Amino acid sequence: MSVLLISGSPSQRSRSSALLQSVGERLKERGILVSSLQVKDLSPQALLLADFNHPSVLGATEQVAGAKVIVIATPVYKAAYSGALKVLLDLLPQTAFKGKAVLPLATGGSPHHMLALDYALRPVLQSLGARHILPGIYATDSQVALPPEGGVVIDGEVDRRINEAVQLLLEDYLAEDFSKFGHFKSIPFSQVRCSV
Ligand SMILES: Cc1cc2nc3c(=O)[nH]c(=O)nc-3n(C[C@H](O)[C@H](O)[C@H](O)COP(=O)(O)O)c2cc1C
Repeated sequence: MSVLLISGSPSQRSRSSALLQSVGERLKERGILVSSLQVKDLSPQALLLADFNHPSVLGATEQVAGAKVIVIATPVYKAAYSGALKVLLDLLPQTAFKGKAVLPLATGGSPHHMLALDYALRPVLQSLGARHILPGIYATDSQVALPPEGGVVIDGEVDRRINEAVQLLLEDYLAEDFSKFGHFKSIPFSQVRCSV
C-alpha cells in the first residue's frame, strides 16, 4: 500500500476527515493505492489503557508500517490536535514514521489556531521519525461546509492548496508508484543523455 489516510477526529461527520477524503480521492484518481485508518474505529478501551497488543492497535501499526506516505488529519481541540489522535500516536512504535513523507491537515473553528499544526502536531510527527513533513493545510469550519444532504463543499483556496499538496506528493514521493501505472518518472536534467 502506498498512502495511508489517518483520521484523528472522533466525530461521525467530520470536516477534517472530509478534507482527508478529498486528498485520498485525488490520489486515487491518479492511480495511487490509498487506504484508511480512523481512530474512531479503533477500540477506545485499548487506546485509553495503552493496550499495545490489542488487535486493533496491532492492525493500525501494520497499516502505518506498510505505507510510504501518510496523510494525517485532525480537528483542533483546545488549541492542539485531538486527544484521540494523540492516544493512537502514543501506541505506535517510536520510529513508526521512519522514512515516510507526512502531509498534515487540520480544521478548526477559527483561524487563530492554524499554527497548532506547526507547534503541536509537527514535533510529534518528527519524533516518530518522519523523513519529510510537508507544509500543512489548515481550514476553518466555514471553508469546509458539510451540507445536510451529504457531501462536502471545500472553499476554493483550500481546494487549490490540496491540489498543490497532492501534486507534490505525486512528483516527489510517489513517482515510482506513479510509473507503475504507465506514467513517466521525471529525470533530472543532469542525467539526460543525448545522442547528438
Ligand atoms: C472539544 C472541542 C474543542 C475545540 N477546540 C477548538 C480550538 O481550540 N480552536 C478552534 O479553532 N476550534 C476548536 N474546536 C472546533 C473544531 O476544531 C472544529 O469544529 C473542527 O472543524 C472539527 O473537526 P471535525 O469535524 O473533523 O471533528 C473545538 C471543538 C471541540 C468539539
